[in-house]
Amino acid sequence: MARPQVYVSRTIAEAALQIIARECDLRVYESADYPVPRATLIQEVAAADGALVLLTDRIDAELMDAAPRCRVYANMAVGYDNIDVPAATQRGILITNTPGVLTETTADLTFALILASARRLYEAQRAIVEGRWNTWSTMFMTGQDVYGATLGIVGAGRIGSAVARRAKGFGMRILYHNRRRSPELEVECGAEYASLDDLLRQSDFVSVLVPLTPETRGMFGAREFSLMKPTAVFINTARGPIVDEQALYQALTTGKIWAAGLDVYAQEPVDPHHPLLSLPNVTAVPHIGSASVATRTRMATLAAENLVAALTGRRPPTPVNPEVLE
Ligand code: DGY
Repeated sequence: MARPQVYVSRTIAEAALQIIARECDLRVYESADYPVPRATLIQEVAAADGALVLLTDRIDAELMDAAPRCRVYANMAVGYDNIDVPAATQRGILITNTPGVLTETTADLTFALILASARRLYEAQRAIVEGRWNTWSTMFMTGQDVYGATLGIVGAGRIGSAVARRAKGFGMRILYHNRRRSPELEVECGAEYASLDDLLRQSDFVSVLVPLTPETRGMFGAREFSLMKPTAVFINTARGPIVDEQALYQALTTGKIWAAGLDVYAQEPVDPHHPLLSLPNVTAVPHIGSASVATRTRMATLAAENLVAALTGRRPPTPVNPEVLE
């Protein structure tokens, strides 16, 4: 039987390339830092049986129709809002993602943003570097306490639950809002289920961890920020378009909320001149939630395992639309 042809849309960990190379022929877009141009992506997947793609690649009906030979797209991310899954399912195309392997790493970054925003770490470092630290003074760079505060988790899936476990260690009261209640989380962390509005009213920290879907797009706007405490800290490590950035800017500059920690943006890469980035009470990092060496390597190998399994007649470990396998 001829070896499957695979396209990989970015430079990824060698261990993942080896998994693919054992059973498939592969072509790689050799670039660590820039996404493959769309025209190149379309041309390459048109000649492939399967592709390993990133969240920066838009996999839509146009691309699928231009590449009828390509039967599987293995996304190297847990989120798959870059892929039109209904269009894929309609065409019998398999989509896979990488859940589980990035949970703890992303929860770590979420908690890092909670701490950094609460204690003004970025602003405080700038104060030293810019020569604004004159002496130890009573209220200089004072922030908010994390220990003992109330954390509201919006989206208590794998990552939200991992954030809750960290919060428990910080003696926090944990509220959560989710499509379904999680009895495990309530038992393990003492988390309390709350309506979104109650969670927003009561929380000192609001951490957003829902996937981007038509329902969650624009979920946080002026109304939601106006419900929050003036001392509240808003953390987004999910997807940028869940938040109306203009409303967030307004909330931060008019004292409706106190600070924000952001890993994700409506447009990525975010424009360095974006108004949010000019605010001292915004701690911003460049979509690095899952960015540890071990986790990015494991995401690549899981994506490779999914791809190879699908192309060699085995069941992939983490399909998004398993119905196409039936
Ligand atoms: C994902 O996997 O969806 C993250 O945004 C990147 O790790």
